[in-house]
Amino acid sequence: MLSVERLSVVYEGRGSSVRAVDEVSFTIEAGEVLALVGESGCGKTSVALALTKLLPMPPATITGRVLFEGKNLMEASPDALRAVRGGKIAYVFQEPATSLNPVLTIREQLVEVIELHTPARGREAQRVAVEWLQRVGIADARERLSAYPHEFSGGMQQRVMLAMAMATRPSLLIADEPTTALDVTIQVQILRLLRDLQRAYRLCVLLISHDLTVVERIAHRVGVMSAGKLVELGPVAQILHQPAHPYTKELIRYRSMMSLPRRNTSHD
Ligand SMILES: Nc1ncnc2c1ncn2[C@@H]1O[C@H](COP(=O)(O)OP(=O)(O)OP(=O)(O)O)[C@@H](O)[C@H]1O
Ligand SMILES: [Mg+2]
Repeated sequence: MLSVERLSVVYEGRGSSVRAVDEVSFTIEAGEVLALVGESGCGKTSVALALTKLLPMPPATITGRVLFEGKNLMEASPDALRAVRGGKIAYVFQEPATSLNPVLTIREQLVEVIELHTPARGREAQRVAVEWLQRVGIADARERLSAYPHEFSGGMQQRVMLAMAMATRPSLLIADEPTTALDVTIQVQILRLLRDLQRAYRLCVLLISHDLTVVERIAHRVGVMSAGKLVELGPVAQILHQPAHPYTKELIRYRSMMSLPRRNTSHD
C-alpha cells in the first residue's frame, strides 16, 4: 500500500542544516496500523508531512521515494499531490482547533472537503456530512452542522476532524499525536473511535505517538525513531517485550514506572 524508501528531510537554515529525517524506510500494508514513536524532535512529524510533500520547501528538502498505490509521490505534480492530500491520504493533527477554520461553520468545512474529493455535490454532500458526523459520535449531527468550531469541546473537534478525514474515504490516515492535546478520559474515547474506524474501513494508519499504551492498543507494528533515524521496527509485541534500542528500553521503563501500584497510605 505505502512503501517509503530512504526518505530524508533536511532543513536548511542560515549557515546550518538539520537532517531531521535520515534515510528512513518502512512499508504499511493494507489494513495495517504502523506506529511511529520516539523522543521529541526525532523527526516523526517531518516524516508524516514529507510523505505528501506537505513541508515548506525551502527550508526543507526531501529525498527518497514514497510509493503510494504504485506511484512515487515525490515525482507527482503539485496538482496530483493536492488531490492525494486530504483525499486518498488524510491527516489528523494534534490540535483540532488549529486545523479547523474558526470563521466557517462545520457544514462549510465538511461539505467543501466532500465536494473537493468525492463526486457528491450540494444536498448529497450535506447528507454525507451528516452521516459522517453521526458515525464519529456527534449527537444531533444535522443541527450541529451550523455550529462553528469554538462551539465544540476539544474532543468533539477531534471527532469532527476524524469525520472530515474519513468523509473522503482515504486509504491511508496519518494521525500525528491525535489525542495528546485532549483530556485523558477523552483520549480513550478518541482512540477507541480511531480503532473502530480503522477496523470498519480496513484503513491503513500511520499513528504518531509517544505513548506506548496507545501504541499497544491500536498498532500492529511499531517503528522507533531516534535523531532522524528509524532505529527499530517490528511487531508491537516484539518491540515492547524485547526492545533492542536503548531509547525503546527507556520508554518501556518509563511506562512501567508510571503504572506502578501506589503504596498504601493512610488516605487509601
Ligand atoms: N520548519 C522547520 N525548520 C527548521 N527545522 C525544523 C522545522 N521543522 C522541524 N524542524 C526540526 O527538525 C527536527 C525534527 O522535528 P519534528 O517536528 O519532525 O520532530 P517530532 O519527532 O515530530 O517532535 P515532537 O515529538 O516534539 O512533535 C527538530 O530538530 C526540529 O527542530
Ligand atoms: Mg511532532
